[in-house]
Amino acid sequence: MSATAVSCGAIGIEHIGTPVRLRGWVNRRRDHGGLVFIDVRDRDGISQIVFDPADAATFDIAQSLRNEDVIDVVGDVRARPAGTENANLATGTVELGVTSLAVLSRSLTPPFPINVDGDVDENLRLKYRYLDLRRPRLQHNLTVRHKIVKAMRDFFDARDFLEIETPVLIKSTPEGARDFLVPSRVHPGTFYALPQSPQLLKQILMIGGLGRYMQIARCFRDEDSRADRQPEFTQLDVEMSFVDEEDVMAIMEACIVHVWKAALGHEIAQPIPRIAHVDAMRRFGIDKPDLRFGLELCDVNSAFEGTSINFLKAHVANPASRMAAVRYPGGAALSRRDFDAITETAKSFGAGGLIYVTYAADGWKSSIQKLLDDATVTKLRELCDAEVGDAILLVAGERALATDVAGKLRLHVADRLQLRDPATFAFCWIVDFPLFERDADTGAIAPTHHPFTAPLVGQESLLESDPLAMRAQHYDLVLNGFELGSGSIRIHDVAFQKRIFEVFGLSDAIIEDRFGFFMEALRYGAPPHGGMAWGIDRLAMLACGETSIRDVIAFPKNQVARDLMMDAPSAVPDVSLRDVGLQLRRGAGSAPTPPAEPAKT
Ligand code: AMO
Repeated sequence: MSATAVSCGAIGIEHIGTPVRLRGWVNRRRDHGGLVFIDVRDRDGISQIVFDPADAATFDIAQSLRNEDVIDVVGDVRARPAGTENANLATGTVELGVTSLAVLSRSLTPPFPINVDGDVDENLRLKYRYLDLRRPRLQHNLTVRHKIVKAMRDFFDARDFLEIETPVLIKSTPEGARDFLVPSRVHPGTFYALPQSPQLLKQILMIGGLGRYMQIARCFRDEDSRADRQPEFTQLDVEMSFVDEEDVMAIMEACIVHVWKAALGHEIAQPIPRIAHVDAMRRFGIDKPDLRFGLELCDVNSAFEGTSINFLKAHVANPASRMAAVRYPGGAALSRRDFDAITETAKSFGAGGLIYVTYAADGWKSSIQKLLDDATVTKLRELCDAEVGDAILLVAGERALATDVAGKLRLHVADRLQLRDPATFAFCWIVDFPLFERDADTGAIAPTHHPFTAPLVGQESLLESDPLAMRAQHYDLVLNGFELGSGSIRIHDVAFQKRIFEVFGLSDAIIEDRFGFFMEALRYGAPPHGGMAWGIDRLAMLACGETSIRDVIAFPKNQVARDLMMDAPSAVPDVSLRDVGLQLRRGAGSAPTPPAEPAKT
């Protein structure tokens, strides 16, 4: 009887008595009681195989096996002797008595253990990514990611969307980050840009009459990496014609519900709550609130009306200021040293300082004890709904800064109290965004999202008179404090699109140079359209309970945008530069001389 090939996680009592073939990696070898036991592993799981010294030739080879060698074994499945079953293994009731063994490949000693899930330096993991990929954690994460993407494709396919690939070598279509440029060999001195997203291409697909588009799209942004950002990442990108905000949000909400159910077996409570941008900033100090816990910010100006505290006077009745407090449940038990640490944290967020008040059964204490009185402290407590045992953290200052610091303190308190359970999923929509914001560095007006977003219907005339008062048909989907995705209804009127560009100070010549092809397309019967894009890496990270998107990407870049396994980016031979008409500037910051290319054979 020829042996049935089975995966290492699949042998069971149903195989007893049949010859079975297993192929995989040596997870661990134990020499015990005159026998050799090997756990052999593949993506599916682990099986125990046993070598008997009666077959001396095979037994000798088995004794030479080391972790991560690749083997091919045939044998008979049998029940494990009573008392030796392993309840932690799916295959733990059986073992394979090996009758033949082939060593397919030998392994060097891995630089970190594959068979235990301990902490390993991330750069080492990234350099030997193929070894890291063998570990159950990454295999699980990539499996969940696969299920997420499949669920997305199934969802849109069932609703008449076409999956359409857009090019990766395109013209720069700015979305706020720096472009990655690719020099052209055929047209020396000119460059393609890698897409920051397929934004304009998907809009042009709508002008092209495709109606409903989706794509699992690779995007590239030359921005600093963070735990939730990579220079190269993947979006679920969607666009639809003849829709309004409600239509897009309805389909995207149905999609996330489907994806969470299909990939995680989790039911998302519907409807997903919607929060206006202005309320999100007031209640949570951020436009991507973590709703897994309460601790909403409290505006406490009224507690200080008529105050004689000099450094607070300027803020009490000043609309450009904010006095925002965060309740710290149980915070009265914290030590002075704890509050010093929290104050330092607040300063690292940009605060000038932090006021705290604690409410203990035997009275209150504060960092500004001598300046406060009972009436103010009582009013503060009422405004914040604080109880005996709680503390209040208070920041006062310029409105945007105080809001930002208070929002970050809210998260800091939640972290200290372990209120951010990764197994809880709290989604929300943020709606009613401002169309424009002031760039913090330059003070110039900039789009909150991107320059193709339409304002609320009827607000077009504010564009010249009061642009900062305009609201956008723009919606974000937020999960556990992360922006999963953004979308909007687009401008489909070429004249209005031009006026928007002009608000940013773009001249006719620049509009023509950067966006001429798009403006031209808008002139040929553009349907009303809108859509959305989600960051699949972020979505998978949260679905897997990870804290870095690098752990749901097979081959990520590290924190400084390097691929440590391939050693990219790397210098290239002069001839490659010459081909594309480039010459490096020598001197500070220039690349080292590249190693010579190996001779072609
Ligand atoms: P936006 O720029 O908001 O919108 O991007 C959409 C989503 O993509 C993810 N994302 C990233 N993920 C990992 N690394 C990055 N560097 C990165 N940058 C963005 C985020 C984000 O919410 N074209 C518009 C969408 C539209 O209007 O339809 C766009 O790209 O999860």
